[in-house]
Amino acid sequence: MNRSVFRFARYFSTKKVPKSVTVNGQTYATDSWTNVPASIVALTDRQLHLDQNHPIGILRSLIENSFKGMGYTFYNNFKPVVTTFENFDVLGFPEDHPGRSKSDTYYINEKTLLRTHTSAHEHECFQKCSTPGYFISADVYRRDEIDRTHYPAFHQMEGARIWSRSELGDSLHEKLRQDIASIPKVDIIVEDPNPAFSDATNPKQSYMTDVETELVSQHLKRTLELLVNQVFNEAKKSAKLAGSEEPYLNEPLRVRWIEAYFPWTAPSYEIEVWWKGEWLEVCGCGVVREQVLTNSGIENTIGWAFGVGLDRIAMLLFGIPDIRLFWTLDERFSSQFTRGSITTFKPYSKYPGTTRDVSFWLPDTDKLPLHENDLMEIVRDTAGDLVESVKLVDQFVHPKTGRKSQCYRINYQSMDRSLTNDEINVYQEKVRDILRSTYEIELR
Ligand code: DAH
Repeated sequence: MNRSVFRFARYFSTKKVPKSVTVNGQTYATDSWTNVPASIVALTDRQLHLDQNHPIGILRSLIENSFKGMGYTFYNNFKPVVTTFENFDVLGFPEDHPGRSKSDTYYINEKTLLRTHTSAHEHECFQKCSTPGYFISADVYRRDEIDRTHYPAFHQMEGARIWSRSELGDSLHEKLRQDIASIPKVDIIVEDPNPAFSDATNPKQSYMTDVETELVSQHLKRTLELLVNQVFNEAKKSAKLAGSEEPYLNEPLRVRWIEAYFPWTAPSYEIEVWWKGEWLEVCGCGVVREQVLTNSGIENTIGWAFGVGLDRIAMLLFGIPDIRLFWTLDERFSSQFTRGSITTFKPYSKYPGTTRDVSFWLPDTDKLPLHENDLMEIVRDTAGDLVESVKLVDQFVHPKTGRKSQCYRINYQSMDRSLTNDEINVYQEKVRDILRSTYEIELR
């Protein structure tokens, strides 16, 4: 156990980890791995992707509608508690992958966690899906920094498609070519400078031929270009309707393919979209590793998978400036959206934020006693959604003592009301108390 994990465990022990945790009506025994706070468990019942009148649900439907009738099953009801087997092992995550650490992931107990990605359901879907492909939409959870675009809960859509060599026999290549040809053509500029696979940087799997790898990757790329085209053209339409006349709205959509790495795909790629002057990462994907399929009881089959984050795209589509708004229960938010239509969010009022700094000396060791995510969690656990952001604003080493100092700035801001100084002081003092009593740091 590394030091920061140990300290974090101590933070939880000072909080008294309950004997059990109940998520979506199921009760789980806790252990020394448990680190999921009640404030996060509370989010697991929200299921924003199922709400047809919520931006996340509207975006999900928009994508699903673009792929209706093309051989996909849509799964939207998987609950967020999964096993470490489903989330990591079956996908080939190495034992020391940082994603497995307690500083990145919410554990219910040693073997159970809140899924960190929708890929956790690939195993089950490959086992039970009776169409050539599927889409999974769901809420996912990661311990992360807090700011305008990061929240510990967000949403992903997973897609996958397979072709059985045993069933298709000699017609496999022809079937793949037909399936590629049947994907609606889109009018976008595609930069794809790399070959489908390369021994040096993006190797293919030995169980697949060059042609198979080439064809599966083409099907994957054309499918995702269609998805991106549907979504980003809708975003342009809605911005125009809202009165925007920015030049990018009349330019053709531009995407680029880059090489990537994921433990369960080879070769792997990412697609990025040129959006308002920068490349926006949209989606990771690749050709599914044989082992993932055989682990699901599927033999002699080839295919692809992708995973796309919905929240950031929904923010663009609906002009939503802060990811926390998705979770607000304020009617002034929810009343603005209706199923099937993409409309630009009208800010209802901005309450000013108030910042407070917390500074401390770290002990004179190489190892950090406090992981940044621990601090995020303490702040969030104390003040919930009243925390707009937590940022490291200063750090320096004392020239004489050699000790390191850090200063974090917390911005307290409510979406729905004004906060009083007294109220913020109470939160701030509580954060300092927890830090003081739990970590080997000296508050300044
Ligand atoms: N699960 C990945 C993530 O959360 C996204 C992803 C990448 C999904 C590649 C896939 C894939 O299915 O093939 O970042």
